[in-house]
Amino acid sequence: MAEAAGLPRTVGLLGAGVIGAGWAARFLLHGVDVRLFDPDPEAERKVGEVLDNARRALRRLTLAPIPAEGGLTLVSSPEETVAGCDFVIESAPEREQLKRELLSAVDGVVGPDVVIASSTSGLLPSRLQQDMRHPERMLVGHPFNPVYLLPLVEVCAGQRTSPEAVERAAAVYSALGMSPLIVRKEIDGFIADRLLEALWREALWLVNDDVATVSEVDDAVRLGAGLRWAAMGTFQSYRIAGGEDGMRHFLAQFGPALEWPWTKLTDVPELTDELLDRIVAQSDEQADGMGVREMERLRDDCLVAVLQALRTQGVGAGAVLARHERALLGGVAKRDGGAEDDEGRPLHRARVQPEWVDYNGHAHESRYLQVFGDATDGLLRRLGVDAAYLDGGHSFFTVETHLSHLGEASAGDDLAVTTQVLAADEKRLHVFHRMTGGDGEVLATAEQMLLHVDTGVGRAAPADGEVLARARGLAARHATLPLPHRAGRSIGMARPASA
Ligand SMILES: NC(=O)c1ccc[n+]([C@@H]2O[C@H](COP(=O)([O-])OP(=O)(O)OC[C@H]3O[C@@H](n4cnc5c(N)ncnc54)[C@H](O)[C@@H]3O)[C@@H](O)[C@H]2O)c1
Repeated sequence: MAEAAGLPRTVGLLGAGVIGAGWAARFLLHGVDVRLFDPDPEAERKVGEVLDNARRALRRLTLAPIPAEGGLTLVSSPEETVAGCDFVIESAPEREQLKRELLSAVDGVVGPDVVIASSTSGLLPSRLQQDMRHPERMLVGHPFNPVYLLPLVEVCAGQRTSPEAVERAAAVYSALGMSPLIVRKEIDGFIADRLLEALWREALWLVNDDVATVSEVDDAVRLGAGLRWAAMGTFQSYRIAGGEDGMRHFLAQFGPALEWPWTKLTDVPELTDELLDRIVAQSDEQADGMGVREMERLRDDCLVAVLQALRTQGVGAGAVLARHERALLGGVAKRDGGAEDDEGRPLHRARVQPEWVDYNGHAHESRYLQVFGDATDGLLRRLGVDAAYLDGGHSFFTVETHLSHLGEASAGDDLAVTTQVLAADEKRLHVFHRMTGGDGEVLATAEQMLLHVDTGVGRAAPADGEVLARARGLAARHATLPLPHRAGRSIGMARPASA
């Protein structure tokens, strides 16, 4: 069941191809139960494969606390799928009549308050909602592939869509870590696909006219402008391209070229068999035998790296990611904050992931620190260190860690970390973690000293009253536990006496 504000408990998905499977992954990985209809007998396998890739991407993307996964149910009809759902998304093939039939079939099944969104890339919502009895809850929520990583979703209302439905849908997308872009004016192709289609049309002309191969066109995008777009988009990039005089100079310099013009505008090359064969053959050569799932993983790894780089600058999709990580932190703090019964209860659980394992066949030593760091974050959330506390300019920084490796953790092992607060004062928190494997064997311990800081001035400062009271309360209760025999150890070898 979903926890974050704005998320539905259960979502009904109609169509589980590239986009529907991506939606399924994004909802499931945010703890939402998914009911899904797709007539393709292979749908379950395909969704499973996309979900595996999505889990992998999310693990690499963020250390934020991810909710427990929702449950996935495949259902045999659209009407049964949406029954009991509090949000519905249609991602069937891009055929207006098919979509209209599907939308009116489910319209009569769910209550009139339930938003029904279409993933259409460019069909007008006013036309799609025509046969519905409750058209006011229908709108377009146009996502981008891979839906589980890219934050943009264009929200476009039809003539009969209510503002409340737009608001509710935007809240759901935001709670999923996406960034809804409200399309002000209903228009074919919305905003993004109008841009993409112009580029796509020119790309096809360049191949049709034998100016470039498929690979050469892709290089022209990915080695140049494509790199800029993730950070700056078209207008900001061109402002900088205008030099010190900015946009006015850029328009003066390149404005005339628009009238020459360099492009073929809305002319479309005829998709003859010869052109199709050429594009497909060149595309196969470019793929060099790589299967689609493998290619998706390569794409995802690159996207994760780009998103993380953008996050360091607080720019574009990186800013959206940082905001969502704060919200995930706040969600867990709300659930766990202030709990008083910590003795012996694991503050953190993790499973050893295949990529944690090094050449020795066990988890790399850095992963132990990662797991203990996550346990420390869990403790801080219980003390009330949530997004608001961090935004207020307060945090705890770890200043010292002593990690003892006592056993080996292998891929797939379930780990649990229990935490004892050894001492707490206004500025310091002294903790001792124990990591156990599935059979209860202690695999590692970590003793840490944390300093409370005022992040505005970058100096140690007293913790806020409530956080301090909780820390002191925990330390007092944990003082009744035996002192761990590894606490206070230092590393050293007896040195030979100097001559
Ligand atoms: N592929 C993209 O990049 C992309 C991006 C954004 C939006 N979209 C839009 O998303 C929608 C789906 O596109 P896609 O790329 O996932 O297509 P797709 O061909 O990968 O998937 C469509 C799925 O719908 C299923 N289907 C067929 N008839 C159905 C029915 N009656 N009810 C339910 N499901 C049915 C098919 O079996 C298939 O699995 C389209 O409207 C498309 O415009 C696509």
